[in-house]
Amino acid sequence: MSGRFITLEGGEGAGKSSNLEWLAEALREAGVAVTVSREPGGTELAERIRQVLLEPGAEPMADATELLLVFAARAQHLAARIRPALARGEWVLCDRFIDATWAYQGAGRGLARADIAALETLVLKGLTPDRTLLFDVPVDIGLARAGKRSEPDRIEREQRDFFERVRQCYLQRAAAEPQRFRVIDAGQELPGVRAQLRASLEEMLTWR
Ligand code: TMP
Repeated sequence: MSGRFITLEGGEGAGKSSNLEWLAEALREAGVAVTVSREPGGTELAERIRQVLLEPGAEPMADATELLLVFAARAQHLAARIRPALARGEWVLCDRFIDATWAYQGAGRGLARADIAALETLVLKGLTPDRTLLFDVPVDIGLARAGKRSEPDRIEREQRDFFERVRQCYLQRAAAEPQRFRVIDAGQELPGVRAQLRASLEEMLTWR
């Protein structure tokens, strides 16, 4: 038995976390067994790595440290949570996954593609999401929404340019893999976003 792996991606303030809950509930109502998780995090140990990654601290974090921590958390998450859930036939809904690394560490930080690709091979071992919903929102709107929510974490303290590179990378990846990605225009008001999400949901329910 093998489940389905669905990831949600997007920049800051794109609304993916609140829509993730809605989507999980809609799938459950349709009779699907759902596991909801997030990255970095999703297990006790991976959540501890998340804290190290996101807590602002006095010592600047080297880019390579950040990249390795992201993949360390992912390796743990895959082993302890995602692969077992998929093996049980569940649908895993995950708030961020590998595309976030390409967007934030690749495009945002400018780390070498070859390094990210090598770690991707090591950690993912060929696992690819069946569907990735990209919540796309113009950077200024997203940052304004995220700013109202809470104190910025270490990554949210980056400059506007960084988030523009993140957004463009996500959009490029979506254009390169149209069979995997669905782009949600998250700049719309909630009813408009939900209508787009519902269309994606209907499409996924045909997989059963
Ligand atoms: P979140 O606040 O949406 O849960 O995401 C946590 C932060 O971690 C967000 O700023 C993006 C960042 N991140 C990366 O930089 N690389 C990654 O691979 C992942 C999964 C998240």
